[in-house]
Amino acid sequence: MQLDLTQASGFAGEIAASSTLSELNEVKVKYLGKKGLISLLNKQLPSLAPEERPAAGEKIQGLRNGFEALFQERLEKIGREAREKAILSEYIDISMPGFPFVNGSLHPVNRVYDEIVDIFTIAGYEVKSGPEVEDDYHNFEALNIPKTHPARDMQDTFYIHGDIVLRTHTSPVQIRTMESQKPPIKIISPGKVYRCDYDVTHSPMFHQVEGIVVDKGVTFGDMKGALRLFISRMFGDDLDVRLRPSFFPFTEPSAEVDMGCVQCRGKGCRMCKGTGWLEIGGCGMVDPEVFRFVGTDPDVYSGFAFGMGIERIALLKYGIDDIRLFYENSLKFLKQF
Ligand code: PHE
Repeated sequence: MQLDLTQASGFAGEIAASSTLSELNEVKVKYLGKKGLISLLNKQLPSLAPEERPAAGEKIQGLRNGFEALFQERLEKIGREAREKAILSEYIDISMPGFPFVNGSLHPVNRVYDEIVDIFTIAGYEVKSGPEVEDDYHNFEALNIPKTHPARDMQDTFYIHGDIVLRTHTSPVQIRTMESQKPPIKIISPGKVYRCDYDVTHSPMFHQVEGIVVDKGVTFGDMKGALRLFISRMFGDDLDVRLRPSFFPFTEPSAEVDMGCVQCRGKGCRMCKGTGWLEIGGCGMVDPEVFRFVGTDPDVYSGFAFGMGIERIALLKYGIDDIRLFYENSLKFLKQF
């Protein structure tokens, strides 16, 4: 009886032919596994003549060592190749130009909003805010606009329920401030306001900035000075300011604020319809009735108030002719700022 080694000659070829770990493992099982060739050969040992067994055993061990060495060598090579492939596939050419980041920018209304706040804070005004969902009392009543007053028609109000409304102006913030704070008061109240109105110059939601100054001896002249200061900082100091008599229930006397046209600088053009003036807001001396609502003595204190639309200021500043562009979020439009 002799060991049958014919099958052993296939190992080297099969190992060399396996190119993946699983192929390599199959070969390993076939030759070195529990039912593999080496096991089979070991099982033949008892059937050999006793004097042949040591040499045969040595031969089998030699084969096993040879198999294992070849297997190990191939295993390492496959591992190395896989790593190299991974490195090549993940290769990043750091000398290539990158993808540029697209930076967002502030919305034009926010820019103008911030600019307005800056101008007034530098001039010593405090910034106050209040609820956008207001009660009738603060939005109308305390501003001397009783339920039956025709002036309620000036502001197309969104009613939520009962006496609760979306504020139609930021004047309620002035009432709330005067309720909780004694004069001197010098504040602006910028924020969102709501009116049921929609066309090229009106949006159901827009931003207002209102201001109020209350102290002893505050005059109409102080008001014009404050407005002039704001307009010159915002649009340039060559623009004049003009006050036209008007009516608001909460101010007496009241005026519309006009400023020199931003386009023709007062000479007269299409934008200002040849007048040289553009309307920019309303203003007036705080009505004594309003003072009585908040418990301020109108015989001791006086004050002025003003209100402007922030979108209107942005339209004029950037020469835009449709307020709706501000809310469409078209990148073509927004990228210009
Ligand atoms: N509250 C007024 C409005 O929204 C604006 C205004 C404020 C007018 C203060 C005069 C004084 O129309």
